[in-house]
Formats: sequence, structure tokens, C-alpha cells
Amino acid sequence: MKCSKCKEKAIAYLKPYRIALCKNCYPNFYLNLVSRSIKKYGILRKVERILACVSGGKDSSAMAFALKKLGYNIEILHIDLGIKEYSVKSKKVAEELAEELDVPIHVVELSEYGFTIDDVDVKKVCSVCGTAKRYLMNRFARLNGFDVISTGHTAEDLILFFFKNVLSGGIEWIPKLIPRSESSDGLIARARPLFERSEKENMLFVLSLNVPFVTDECPHAPRDVWKEIIYDIEIKKPGFKQNFVRGLIKLAKSVKVEKEWELKKCRICGETSSSDICAFCRYVEKFGRV
Ligand code: AMP
Ligand code: FES
Ligand code: ZN
Repeated sequence: MKCSKCKEKAIAYLKPYRIALCKNCYPNFYLNLVSRSIKKYGILRKVERILACVSGGKDSSAMAFALKKLGYNIEILHIDLGIKEYSVKSKKVAEELAEELDVPIHVVELSEYGFTIDDVDVKKVCSVCGTAKRYLMNRFARLNGFDVISTGHTAEDLILFFFKNVLSGGIEWIPKLIPRSESSDGLIARARPLFERSEKENMLFVLSLNVPFVTDECPHAPRDVWKEIIYDIEIKKPGFKQNFVRGLIKLAKSVKVEKEWELKKCRICGETSSSDICAFCRYVEKFGRV
């Protein structure tokens, strides 16, 4: 198979775009797609100080790399979750990436709060981990004057969020489907510049430019049947993910949902919370060793 642009050997045929691309032509094609999404949906601005949250996985590595190449002002945040070898490798990758991009890197150690993800002995360890990550990203961004937090969430992540939270009756989650939320009440703005990109597109980007990333899966990650279903649909209906994601954005913009809870300040840490003591501080109490 030959590249549709330069006739060199193609690395992939991208069904949704009906185009085959080689290692040299793919990165620019990808960067163009990311740039178009950012502009079309007003996801980021060049004047903003952006905290690019890098786990070390292919998606967030692709996000930070793409933003820097497109001229955005980023600094990297990596959260060391204390998941044995996996966290050691992930931190190393985030540091390599920062060095390659010549951007500052900040590392927050979850252990400094008295526990690590390996200490969490409940079934829903991923949900504790998610709460801890969101809390630490927001706290770091707020205390250090960042305008916006950028994550590597993909089209698959957005569709999964819809299937798992909204379809089960949680219509109050619909507004969370937008790719950019603004700062308010101590919560820093959130941006998801890769929300239209698939994991495959991100993988091809990091592979074609040798961007550092970890190949290991988190040892706590459960098998996700919903994700397999999304992949099955995409095989039968190429382009499904992108069309669906665009539909979700339209839905999120058109639905007005009344806030069901009042935002307060956590009595312990002062961060924004829906209850007197925030979920993170409750976890610190439950799992903390100090
Ligand atoms: P996840 O919740 O693992 O699906 O990750 C969603 C996004 O959160 C990633 O694309 C990253 O941008 C960010 N993220 C996840 N884990 C970390 C981490 N350990 N440090 C910094 N950012 C992270
Ligand atoms: Fe959070 Fe695996 S990265 S539980
Ligand atoms: Zn708190």
C-alpha cells in the first residue's frame, strides 16, 4: 500500500478519511486534525498557560507533543500514583518527554498525602484513582496559576463516559461531554484537545515520531467490555466514533441541566467540593498511613 500523498510505503490506511499515509506524511496530517478541532471548538488559546497532564501513556504523550508542536504554551504535570513498576516507568517516560520537548515538568507524588493506589484495597480502585488524579490536577493548576488543564482524553473515552454515565440515567453528566469547560468556583478550566482523535490515530502519531510512551497497561485496569463494543461498531461502521462524538457535543451544548448540588469548600483542604469534606480528603482518612 502506497502513501496517498507521496507514494512512499504507507504505515496505515485510515478508513474514516479514505487515505493511506506514510511515516513522514502522517504526523502533519494528525497535527492538522488536532489544530482544526482546537480552533473549531475553541478548546485552547495560544495566550494561555496550559498544564498538560501526562500519564506516560500514548494518548497524553501525543497530546503534549502535538500541543507543543502547534505552538501552545505548555508545562507538563505527572502524578506518581505509586503503582509499583508501572508508576516508575510512567514517571520516567513523562520526564523523557519533557526533556525532548524542552518544557518544564512538575511531579506530584500521591504518597505525600499518606497513601498510594497500591494501598487502596477496594474493588473500585480505578474510581479512587480517578478522584485522586482530578483533585491533584486541579489543586496543582490552581495553586500555580495555570489557566487551563489539558488531558489526553480520546473519542473512545468520551463515548465510554456517555455509555457508562449518561445512558444509565445520569443526564446531569451531559454537560461534561464538552471538550472545554471554563474555570469557576475554584475549578480550573478543562480542555480535551484529542476528543475527536481515536486511540489508533494517537498510537500512529507517537510511533511515527518516536515520541516516548509506556506500553504497559495499569495492573489495576479491568477488562472493559464497553470499549470492546465501541471497537466492534467501528469495524462494522468506519467513522462511527467521530460522528458519534460530534453528535455528543451537539447534545451537550443543547441540553441545559440544573445543578443538583451546591458547591462548597472542603473543611479540611479548602478545595471545591459538593460535600463538607471532599472525596479526596475522605480517601486520605480511609487509606492514609499517617
Ligand atoms: P485516565 O483517567 O487514565 O483515562 O486518563 C485520562 C487523562 O488524565 C490522560 O489522558 C492524562 O491526560 C491524564 N492522566 C492520567 N493519569 C495521569 C497521571 N498519572 N499523571 C498526569 N496525568 C494523568
Ligand atoms: Fe488509576 Fe490504574 S491508573 S487505577
Ligand atoms: Zn478536601
